[in-house]
Amino acid sequence: MTDPVALHFAHARAPGKINVFLKVGQLQDDGYHELATAFQAVSLYEEVRAYPADDFSVSFSGSIDTTGLAVDGSNLAIKAARLLARKTGYRGGVRLEIEKNVPIAGGMGGGSADAAATLVACDALWGTEASREELVALAAQLGADVPFALSGGTAIGTGRGDQLSPALAKGRFHWVLAVAEFGMSTPEVYSALDRHREKHAQDIFPATVQPVVDTEVLQALRAGDARQLAEALHNDLQAPALGLAPGLGRILELGEQMGALAGIVSGSGPTLAFLVPDADSALELQVALSASRLNALRVTGPVHGARLVQEW
Ligand code: C5P
Repeated sequence: MTDPVALHFAHARAPGKINVFLKVGQLQDDGYHELATAFQAVSLYEEVRAYPADDFSVSFSGSIDTTGLAVDGSNLAIKAARLLARKTGYRGGVRLEIEKNVPIAGGMGGGSADAAATLVACDALWGTEASREELVALAAQLGADVPFALSGGTAIGTGRGDQLSPALAKGRFHWVLAVAEFGMSTPEVYSALDRHREKHAQDIFPATVQPVVDTEVLQALRAGDARQLAEALHNDLQAPALGLAPGLGRILELGEQMGALAGIVSGSGPTLAFLVPDADSALELQVALSASRLNALRVTGPVHGARLVQEW
């Protein structure tokens, strides 16, 4: 049993994600859309350090500009800590220090990773010993992508994207991310898709049909075959995201001209993810995109989900 008195702080890390496939179904009564998605966790991490405190607070640092992030009760990490305290009967608070590396409002689940790492860190700090199943249930209450940030790896998401089943995946995929200087609102991108579907009645997703992940995607992941996966990448949110931020289309073309196997908008954007065959090609593409004054990062996937980091 963990002795809470022995822990001066707890450090947990959770990854960002790319949706290598995202099909959006009908809008449900709860304001969420039915999804079929394939997530891959990638090697860009949020680091959450949790310190004992009487109340709940959060501060940010990291490789990206964090000014403007909410630090009050509306912050998802604070919501995560409060939810865990409420569910376990823990009566104290926590001071959270979050080192952010996943682009903010970038479509890579950075806020969800903060929440997942916060659940894991607070559980260790407080000695509340929630089971993995309990943490997953809390994660789903916090947001559609939070359960995946806990589980990591490669997984298929249905329902809101929070009903996860692991996908068989072999090897390691290499990606180059083009990170935008602006963020995009996920609800706005979904609404743009709905408006488009209403206007073009032929594009309406049939209410009776459940979206599913294409078998080509599952095969490519299982084979660890980047070329096959490049052919199968798909994101229903890409067109509405490009409609809201047309400049992204040019960068997608640029990345593909510069040697990417394929490029895709990550989640609701605006981060772009370019799939490349190997580590050398990733470096070449990163250099080429950087020379075009773009902020380009190399990542690999799949990686693990939220877990404790030992600092001693
Ligand atoms: O759960 P999360 O807070 O990440 O979702 C943000 C927003 O994205 C939701 O409020 C909803 O507008 C939209 N969304 C959706 N369908 C999903 C997931 C998210 O419409 N399956």
